[in-house]
Amino acid sequence: MLIIKTRNLTKKFKDLLAVDDINLEVEKGECFGLLGPNGAGKTSLIRMITAVSPPTRGDIQVLGNDLKAHSRQVKAILGVVPQLDNLDPDLTVLQNLMTFARYFDIPKNEAHRRSTEVLSLFELGNKRNSHIRELSGGMKRRLLIARGLINLPQILVLDEPTIGLDPQGKYLVWDKLAELKSQGVTQLLCTQNMEEATVLCDRVAIMHQGKILCLGPPQSLISQYVGSEVWEIEVDAGERDKTVKDLRSRGLDFEEVGGKIHVFHVEADEMTRGLVNFAERVRRRPATLEDIFFRLTGRSLVE
Ligand SMILES: Nc1ncnc2c1ncn2[C@@H]1O[C@H](COP(=O)(O)OP(=O)(O)OP(=O)(O)O)[C@@H](O)[C@H]1O
Ligand SMILES: [Mg+2]
Repeated sequence: MLIIKTRNLTKKFKDLLAVDDINLEVEKGECFGLLGPNGAGKTSLIRMITAVSPPTRGDIQVLGNDLKAHSRQVKAILGVVPQLDNLDPDLTVLQNLMTFARYFDIPKNEAHRRSTEVLSLFELGNKRNSHIRELSGGMKRRLLIARGLINLPQILVLDEPTIGLDPQGKYLVWDKLAELKSQGVTQLLCTQNMEEATVLCDRVAIMHQGKILCLGPPQSLISQYVGSEVWEIEVDAGERDKTVKDLRSRGLDFEEVGGKIHVFHVEADEMTRGLVNFAERVRRRPATLEDIFFRLTGRSLVE
């Protein structure tokens, strides 16, 4: 069942097309990832879907209802974790959650119970009476995610949820998101972290300049565009022409990235056959979503 559907969704800021005619469908219960470099349009897209910013053109349906006409009902079932911290610095951790719960008309007792629960979920129980300014960056990040759960959302929209978290915090968030997914909570997740997308997302869309370049399950996209492994050959200027010519004559699929050549869709014996002379400069590694982005745009995903 479709939970989010956008049609010709477009956002313009003056002459800048931040989101360019996007048709997106998110299925109920899936974790859908939006990837793309800075400025690709991810946040702009998410802000329209969460009824924070109005589309320039196009429309959005959530559970079959037009968002414009039903924004109140839609907001009630959405949990939103914004990219930028908008916690109230004058309040304590608990007060932030209690105030937020009021937007959803959650009765005070229930709000208190849920606040305690989400704080413990994100290991912030001992910070409940701290002021926001007393929290570290990573704690604020976890609190933002916790806050997004206060209305027990059916759809959780997260904009870079683990940015600035240490590995332990990141794994904690990944665990909780996986748990929420197993409980049926749909997730729309913006991330620059390829591993995060690969671990959490059932499907991802890679965005660039307001458009979706490709869309599908991470592993299928990787096998389709890159193959399961990438061979990186380090070449100095003197060898470059010869190596390129050799790879080309063997019909191999490759790309030049900085001072290296990346070879895709190639079997180990094919690769080693021609490369015996400079084997020490060849590295074999698993392919990633980042490779797809590079192949499609000639640029790195994270600069
Ligand atoms: N309020 C605004 N006014 C004018 N331009 C904007 C505004 N918000 C975003 N933009 C522009 O729209 C484009 C897309 O920005 P957006 O924030 O959606 O990118 P993003 O993919 O979320 O990037 P990041 O990874 O850096 O968060 C950028 O060129 C940005 O400068
Ligand atoms: Mg953004």
